[in-house]
Amino acid sequence: MENSLTIHHTIHHNIHSERLWAELEHLAHFSDSPYPSVTRVLWTPTDMQARVYLKSLAQGAGLAWREDALGNTFIRLEGTDPTLSAVATGSHNDAIPHSGRFDGTVGVMGGLEALRAILRSGIQPRRSLELILFTAEEPTRFGVGCLGSRAMSGALSAAQMREFKDADGVSLEQARQNAGYDAPLEGVQIPQGHYHAFVELHIEQMPSLEELGLPIGLVTAIAAPASLMITLEGEGGHAGARLMPGRRDALLAAAEIALAVEQATLEQGGSDTVGTTGILKIHPNAINSIPSQAELGIDIRDTDLERRDRVLNALLEATQTICQRRNIGFNIHMLNSDPPARSSECVLDAARKVLQDIPHTEMVSRAYHDSLFMARVCDIAMLFIPCYKGYSHRPDEYAKPQDIALGVQVLAQTLLELAQ
Ligand code: GLV
Ligand code: MN
Ligand code: MN
Repeated sequence: MENSLTIHHTIHHNIHSERLWAELEHLAHFSDSPYPSVTRVLWTPTDMQARVYLKSLAQGAGLAWREDALGNTFIRLEGTDPTLSAVATGSHNDAIPHSGRFDGTVGVMGGLEALRAILRSGIQPRRSLELILFTAEEPTRFGVGCLGSRAMSGALSAAQMREFKDADGVSLEQARQNAGYDAPLEGVQIPQGHYHAFVELHIEQMPSLEELGLPIGLVTAIAAPASLMITLEGEGGHAGARLMPGRRDALLAAAEIALAVEQATLEQGGSDTVGTTGILKIHPNAINSIPSQAELGIDIRDTDLERRDRVLNALLEATQTICQRRNIGFNIHMLNSDPPARSSECVLDAARKVLQDIPHTEMVSRAYHDSLFMARVCDIAMLFIPCYKGYSHRPDEYAKPQDIALGVQVLAQTLLELAQ
């Protein structure tokens, strides 16, 4: 194979940055909120249109694709030795309500451009390369993040998935069949060794690369996420006629619990610990009615698993204390509490080789990604590119075309490095 400088120039020459940018912009318009805001929830007509678009681009590039029972999509560039396990890349195209255009999509559309640049360059990798579009990295519809990769890794079983229902009571089984995916869920899990390695390209979602003026971050670890729902049962009544003594207001307990999330995070956590109450719903949600029920959705993360769990336990204790004092019934449902993941030295070394002459830093990912679960079944690493002020999960999320193109360049070369 050509030396790495030649490969660098060949790949660079074959990345069509303007076309990739136009495709990202086109994709952004498959949205249930007005541009530049993106809302693309699992298996909605919008999500299905975005999937068709990606598959049509793959087909246009002469790349074959297949889908599993969850709609995880695998786009393949055949290597010269079909007996070897493939090197994979990929990310997600789903977007939480009113979010941005680049979270996930840079790794999918950029991953496709990496494969196309390799095809155009005429370089033939020994191992096959696969681009994976993961189904529902975002937890919007069924409450659990990384649905597709979680199931692929075996961390989520078919039986567990059969219990899932969305907020409208539609089961995952029904929803996926409506979307045209009806193969048995048992077929989603992949065995150890199915992939040789996995590399995910993603926007940083924090401002450190931008502040350091660096175009690439090499991710060495991914923080451990946990999320839970707490439902509270109080007593409703007339806001005017019911005097204050003896009230069992579910919202007031919820408000105290939300404050306890902050307090537990600040007191039990470290500078790397974050705790957020992102969902608060009350019933009956009427101005002249005492809230009888409340529901909180809470997200706690840390790079250190023990410390994350200490915060979690402090929160659970506080919830019990608050609910006892206020005479409120409560139920806690853990959605997930996942361990952190480490990148593998072999994948990091492949990327380091590519990054020799490119300014970069090594860093931790505080957001979770499909790589968190791919790490359970193969060696992984991630590449970050800067995004404007670190904004993410909001409509003004932005990454520069030239930063995306460089990310694709480093990704393509790292895939080739791993595929030889
Ligand atoms: C992924 O979107 C996350 O919440 O980290
Ligand atoms: Mn996201
Ligand atoms: Mn993402």
